[in-house]
Amino acid sequence: MKLNGKIAVVTGASRGIGKAIATRLASEGAIVAINYREDAKPAEALVSELNSKGFKAEAFRADVSKPTECHTLLDDVAKTFGRVDILVSNAGIEHFGKLEEITAQDFERVFSVNVAGQLFVTQAASRYLPSGGRIVLTSSVSAQISIFHHTLYAASKAAVSAMVLNLAPELGERGITINAIAPGGTATDMAKENGKLYTHPALQNVSLEALLKSKASLQRLAQPEEIAAAVTFLVSDDASYVTGSTLAVDGGRL
Ligand SMILES: NC(=O)c1ccc[n+]([C@@H]2O[C@H](COP(=O)([O-])OP(=O)(O)OC[C@H]3O[C@@H](n4cnc5c(N)ncnc54)[C@H](OP(=O)(O)O)[C@@H]3O)[C@@H](O)[C@H]2O)c1
Repeated sequence: MKLNGKIAVVTGASRGIGKAIATRLASEGAIVAINYREDAKPAEALVSELNSKGFKAEAFRADVSKPTECHTLLDDVAKTFGRVDILVSNAGIEHFGKLEEITAQDFERVFSVNVAGQLFVTQAASRYLPSGGRIVLTSSVSAQISIFHHTLYAASKAAVSAMVLNLAPELGERGITINAIAPGGTATDMAKENGKLYTHPALQNVSLEALLKSKASLQRLAQPEEIAAAVTFLVSDDASYVTGSTLAVDGGRL
């Protein structure tokens, strides 16, 4: 039990990678605030599942694209549990689109969740985190590779590495670490919906699974639990001297 009694907030936690992270942190003894954007049902189902196993979790609604809701989320968690030790900013949305098709609304939608959402939830958490506090943001392997029509999403995820690099000294003065993970293709709804768009436009009958046979050293998609394991390391005492970094969890990108 690496995280006994720690209070952890995970954004976008009712499905996909966020669900796996919340489950793993709870199994390590953390009390987990399961953030969801709108639909309470899957979040409440996860809370029931975790509580039935003897773990502790509670659901909290907040749309992280709205800075005021990021602050309300952290205020609510601190009020409920008395403090906050860990923030995992996982919520994110994907976008594919040709340059000539990208609109100002697309830019606002993607950056308001993937960049502003991660910055303002960090700002909100920083008001509560004690020395020893941990923050993990979510970047992507996409920030480091060229893919057709993926500019908006990739740029938003590249911004995350710059944020953790530059927030590390500011938070380091207070004994708080901040890092990012950069997952590769991971078996979630996001990969299911957009997987085929990762290949050359002329080859869009090639699945992401098939593509990763040649693009990942381990030749397969990640399971969400494998991403959660890396996050668990970063929020544990074992990562006490790791800050400002972006940890690739991508099966060895080729
Ligand atoms: N899967 C991959 O291959 C992959 C690879 C690299 C990086 N990532 C990153 O990993 C993270 C999780 O991805 P995933 O694959 O698990 O995606 P997913 O299955 O699409 O789940 C995304 C989660 O984020 C939540 N969310 C979206 N906008 C939100 C908002 N404004 N406020 C609060 N929550 C919001 C969603 O809530 P709703 O249910 O309400 O939509 C959902 O719970 C994302 O940041 C993604 O960019 C994923």
